[in-house]
Amino acid sequence: MFRSASFQLYNADCRQEIKNLAPNSIDFIVTDPPYFIDGMDNHWDDQKLKKKSAKSGVIGGLPVGMKFDRSQGECLQKFLEPLCNEFYRVLKPGGFCVVFSQGRLYHRTAMSLDLAGFEIRDLLAWKYEGQAKAFSQTHFIKKDKNLSEKEKQQLIEELDGMKTPQLKPQIEPMTLGQKPKEGTFVENWQKYQVGLVDTKETLNGMFPGTLMDVPKSVRQRETDAKIEHLTVKPVLLISHLIKLFTRKGQIVLDPFTGSGSHGVAALQNNRRFIGFEIEKRYYDIADERLNKQLHANKIQQTQRVMLRLPAQKPFEKNKNHQIDFT
Ligand SMILES: C[S@@+](CC[C@H](N)C(=O)[O-])C[C@H]1O[C@@H](n2cnc3c(N)ncnc32)[C@H](O)[C@@H]1O
Repeated sequence: MFRSASFQLYNADCRQEIKNLAPNSIDFIVTDPPYFIDGMDNHWDDQKLKKKSAKSGVIGGLPVGMKFDRSQGECLQKFLEPLCNEFYRVLKPGGFCVVFSQGRLYHRTAMSLDLAGFEIRDLLAWKYEGQAKAFSQTHFIKKDKNLSEKEKQQLIEELDGMKTPQLKPQIEPMTLGQKPKEGTFVENWQKYQVGLVDTKETLNGMFPGTLMDVPKSVRQRETDAKIEHLTVKPVLLISHLIKLFTRKGQIVLDPFTGSGSHGVAALQNNRRFIGFEIEKRYYDIADERLNKQLHANKIQQTQRVMLRLPAQKPFEKNKNHQIDFT
């Protein structure tokens, strides 16, 4: 566990650790839980996942993200429901909660928040360019022992261009939930300073919208270090969400911290951060990134203070001049 005035990071299972947070103590939750697809569940095994995706993006014989299994959604909802009850307990009245999801599992996330008592305020979406994962049936037709060569050829021609039901992914959905406010928006604001959205915050100079266009490539520009995590979110995207839904000094919680992007975004914007991460390797990455950001913040603060000091007389030009440190 690491504690500073600006952030607290715990190498822990969030299902247990969140119980230690006081009711009505958190201003905003923004989190990206495991989606229960392709082994990215609560038994997330980094080494196993890496080996699988290294094999030309194929997991269990099917391209990453395309294996369809009804139980995935059921497992996700079972996992999320008790957690959403905790999200509800720890958030301040009127506080917002943004949970990332996936097109075919979105309803499970939204229902988990809904059942916990959240008002489902909107569907937000991160717009990015994903990879098309649909594939043709030619390979299976050719292997089918019950078809003659002529029938195979006919079927292949008939199914020209026909692929499995995956259009090219271009959005990652997020559920925007709000804990019911106390009284009017203004009354709730006066008591808790949450519940309204800062519409002066913008990604593109326009009124903030539900579709957030942040290219995945910005991640490379955000850090010089290579981050060893499979699902790193762009800091720019999370910064935008944090600035929309919180004010300076408020507390942001991410129970599934991963590599720490949400924490970096919180610190960059002078918010405080609480994070939980179950995998020690990811916890270490997040810890390093957060400490680096804290250090950068301190340098910035010092520079700001120095800029406010009255201008110093420049040193006289003298070859023999020595600066005295005593
Ligand atoms: C989708 S990733 C989050 C990535 C993160 N948004 C980032 O930008 O790096 C989900 C993370 O949740 C962690 N995780 C899974 N189950 C957990 C649990 N019960 N408690 C805490 N962390 C968990 C995984 O190890 C993984 O790093």
